[in-house]
This record gives sequence, C-alpha cells and structure tokens, in this order.
Amino acid sequence: MTSSRSLNSVLIEELYGRGARLCPSCDDGLTLVFSQSRPFDLIELEQLLASVGWSRRPQRRVKRALENSLLTIGLWNHNTRIPRLVGFARCTGDGVLEATVWDVAIHPIYQGSGLGKELMKYVLEILRKMRTKRVTLFADPGVVDFYLRQGWVLEPKGCRCAFWYAN
Ligand SMILES: CC(C)(COP(=O)(O)OP(=O)(O)OC[C@H]1O[C@@H](n2cnc3c(N)ncnc32)[C@H](O)[C@@H]1OP(=O)(O)O)[C@@H](O)C(=O)NCCC(=O)NCCS
Repeated sequence: MTSSRSLNSVLIEELYGRGARLCPSCDDGLTLVFSQSRPFDLIELEQLLASVGWSRRPQRRVKRALENSLLTIGLWNHNTRIPRLVGFARCTGDGVLEATVWDVAIHPIYQGSGLGKELMKYVLEILRKMRTKRVTLFADPGVVDFYLRQGWVLEPKGCRCAFWYAN
C-alpha cells in the first residue's frame, strides 16, 4: 500500500481519475481519496448503501441512475491494488443552475470522524466550480442537524416543497 506521503497529486489522478484528491482524515494510518470519475463496482456500492440501512434497488436501474447523474462521488480507502469504497454521494441537476444531492453515505466503521462533512465539502466544491446557483437535498429526520451544522437552511415552514410519488 502506498502511504499518503508518497501519494502525490499526479499519482492520485492516475489511480482515481481527473479531479481526484486526498480527503483530510484525523486518522494518520488512513489514506482516503475522493474521486468523481473512478468507476463503481455496483455490488460494492450496494453493500455500502446496505451498510447504512438502505434497502436494495435493482442494479440495472442503479447503473442507469449513476450514468444519468450530474456527479457521482466515491470516497475510497486507498490501496494501489484494491481501493475500498467507504463513502458515496451523487447529484442530479442541469450542471449550471440547480443541483440536488442524493445518497450521501459513509460506511458505519468510518462514521464520526469528519468524513461526511469532508464529503459534502468536496461535493459543494465541484458544484461551485460549475457555478451552480442552488443546491437542494432531502434529509432524513435524524440527519437534518448534520446539514444544519454545515450551513444548510431548511425550506421555510415547509410550504414551498412539493412531492409527487409514483406508486
Ligand atoms: C450522515 C452521515 C453521512 C454523516 O457522516 P459522518 O462521517 O458520520 O459525519 P461527520 O463525522 O463528518 O460529522 C460532522 C458533524 O456532524 C455531526 N453529525 C454527524 N451525524 C449526525 C447526525 N445524524 N445528526 C446530527 N449531527 C450529526 C457530527 O457530530 C459532527 O459534528 P461536529 O462538526 O460538531 O463535530 C453518516 O452518518 C451516514 O452515512 N449516515 C447514514 C446514511 C444517511 O443517513 N445519509 C444522509 C441521507 S440524507
């Protein structure tokens, strides 16, 4: 395994794709990398999302959802041979004005060390570069504070948000 010291930005991009960069981590023994272009193993992604308690979705549909997303971000525990996916987020949007964040997840083993916050910073950094004007997301009740602490605001009085469900 390559240490974070020897993992320079050129090598990171070689291994994880354009725009990849190290994720700051409070654990010196861990080398974590953000990537917006490294392809996902759908089974590994499904396992990550299942590990945070989300129900499984048909893989063919997930594959298409990833292909149709504006951004798909992986947080990888670095290993030159087999990096492990430990975090994920994706965004849909028009790439100019509006974006919506979905499926934000950090593997339970890695939670509570600031990685979720770093993941959201990375997502917003990319959206800012696209000069996105507004970013939205739908937070589960138990996670609302996670976003509020990072400066997100709740839609006032919940009276401008509308949903349509196909069922
Ligand atoms: C929500 C999630 C992404 C947070 O990731 P994480 O790596 O554990 O979070 P961090 O360690 O970066 O926490 C950052 C800050 O938010 C706080 N925080 C983390 N989870 C929180 C929660 N559920 N509610 C309120 N605050 C929370 C932390 O205490 C920390 O506070 P601090 O900055 O004052 O120290 C992660 O818990 C997760 O994957 N949960 C399951 C999936 C999920 O619910 N995703 C969100 C869908 S809307």
